[in-house]
Amino acid sequence: ETTVSVTPAALGFTAVAKNKNDVVTVPTGYSVGVLTRLGDPIVKDVAAFKNDGTDTGYGSRIGDHGDALHYFGLNAAGARDDTSNTRGVLVQNHENITVAYLHASGPTNVAAGPRPEAEALKEIEAHGVSAVELVRGTAGWAYVQDSTFNRRVTPNTAVDISGPVRGSALLVTPYSTGGTAGRGTINNCANGSTPWATLLTCEENWAGYFRRPAATDNARRTPKEVTALSRYGVTSTNGNYAWASVTPADASNTTYRRWDAQATGTSSTTDYRNEPNQFGWVVEIDPYDRSKAPRKRTALGRMNHEGCWPGPFVAGRKPAFYMGDDAQNEYLYKFVSATGWAEADATNADRLAIGDKYLDAGTLYVAKFNADGTGQWLPLVFGQGNVVSTNATYAFADQADVLTHARLAADVQGATRMDRPEWTAVNPVTGEVYLTLTNNASRTTATADAANPRVYVDPPSTARGNRNGHIIRLRETGDTTEATSFNWDIYLFAAGSDLDATNINLSALTADNDLSSPDGLWFGRPSNASGQVTPLLWIQTDDGAFTDVTNNQMLAAFPGRVGDGGTRTVTNTAADGTTSQVVTRIGAAPGTNLRRFLVGPVECEITGVDSTPDGRTLFVGIQHPGENGTAATPTSKWPDSQGAVSTPPATTRPRSAVVVVVKNDGGVVGL
Ligand code: FEO
Ligand code: CA
Ligand code: CA
Ligand code: CA
Repeated sequence: ETTVSVTPAALGFTAVAKNKNDVVTVPTGYSVGVLTRLGDPIVKDVAAFKNDGTDTGYGSRIGDHGDALHYFGLNAAGARDDTSNTRGVLVQNHENITVAYLHASGPTNVAAGPRPEAEALKEIEAHGVSAVELVRGTAGWAYVQDSTFNRRVTPNTAVDISGPVRGSALLVTPYSTGGTAGRGTINNCANGSTPWATLLTCEENWAGYFRRPAATDNARRTPKEVTALSRYGVTSTNGNYAWASVTPADASNTTYRRWDAQATGTSSTTDYRNEPNQFGWVVEIDPYDRSKAPRKRTALGRMNHEGCWPGPFVAGRKPAFYMGDDAQNEYLYKFVSATGWAEADATNADRLAIGDKYLDAGTLYVAKFNADGTGQWLPLVFGQGNVVSTNATYAFADQADVLTHARLAADVQGATRMDRPEWTAVNPVTGEVYLTLTNNASRTTATADAANPRVYVDPPSTARGNRNGHIIRLRETGDTTEATSFNWDIYLFAAGSDLDATNINLSALTADNDLSSPDGLWFGRPSNASGQVTPLLWIQTDDGAFTDVTNNQMLAAFPGRVGDGGTRTVTNTAADGTTSQVVTRIGAAPGTNLRRFLVGPVECEITGVDSTPDGRTLFVGIQHPGENGTAATPTSKWPDSQGAVSTPPATTRPRSAVVVVVKNDGGVVGL
């Protein structure tokens, strides 16, 4: 075990230049290698991935669109070891698919069906979560194909429903007529982890997978159901990838039909109307025991869950988990456990039972940001405030109804509509909470407020809105997870360095650190810093507004503290030329404490980051390179293009993959 000593707090690398190359670029003095890729076999004797669209058995391979990831250490004997820097289990979300590359000649009837069963099965199994054992040997890091830790959780995996919504009529499906179990997880985006060593994986854009043509289905629903389905966007005519259109060879196989949320029958065994209620949850997984079914933690509410990052764990204090709901004008949430933290629970081997203790009972709150730099956590509790059965917008029935429809409860409590809340991150030294607000094309001068203050055009686009996003942060009152109020400021306004410094590039970004659409966000493990420096903040982008200039990127920062800047007046211009002003709170300009560390390949998003405990190996997710290409004409050849000595063939298909980044001198990455 290496002790890391780092002083002073200074970024120790030269900024990478913006570029549109079809490789991952890292700073001088660093090396990058490819670790796990879409299709890599993670079960003994499964065939190597041919990557020509003929591969099958995705339930035994690394999935597509790798997103958030987390490293769980293992010792030499194969047991949990939070200090191990040489062996571990990497658990990664597989959010979505680039359907163009999964089949030999592209997908068949993907928009409206009928879909061939074999194609739909591949697509379903390419979603979910993977766990794979990693070992660092003399040649560097590699994964172990036949490890007993390797696992896939797919949309077809049996899961348990836990918490207050377990057993509710809202979760009665043909699969679980008692409403206590479900099938799988989907569109897993960001994540969180716990001190008892479990993963919290978050279901984000699940609504679109369901077929529910509102025009025909609304008539069969209660007005309350229609309100809820509309608020959550369960209104797709065919569903993403039209899986419900499959006619399976085995007529008793309901794993395709379940994507049709139209009320198709009158009994609980033939009525699929509640299938969408199975998704939109935070799901806890034990990374060390693949025999344990994942548990959906319903106390944390149902939404487009982006991530679920905990605040500091302090003995006797109730832990908190901070969660974004990623859609335009949605909210930031916090769950506070009913139970104070007991340090002995961190090493209890019955990890999901510890999850039951802290994650199944507590209070869900939503954030309200005030113009004066203060804020409140508003409780979403049946019977409190406007969350009552007599509410005119939505007549809440009970707490299960409130949690299943947390957005509707947040609406009536008066929460602040944000510019697309993505990842949360918590500074492990100060406890301050950071939230990426990636962008918001629908923000207008009429709706701009102190916490979401910018409305402008970023050429070559001609559309208005918050084009480039920002990162807001908050400090809990009394620095405790149990607080019901906070202070906030905006740490960073993303922008091109060429944009108006008075109203758009408010953080004075330069060519070394300009960015757009921050999304992934993570503080380096505190053990990196030995308590001597503020931990590094890593920022990842998922952008469409800056890709005229650069591929997506990852930056590193030492971000300072809430309140270290001042106020600023922003002048916004509406489409008709009229101007209006918003006063906001801004952190100190980042200057050289924010620097571009990595640029990804063509048409990728950078998402997912973790390190070994010593901070000397960084794992980074490269998602959907070449996402706009076709099987006949791929638009990226990454990762085959990475360090290739000769040009890969024109037909090479790109693959999402995890890369390993190390400093050539063996030091802590970023310092
Ligand atoms: Fe899956 Fe909001 O990113
Ligand atoms: Ca994201
Ligand atoms: Ca995003
Ligand atoms: Ca631009």
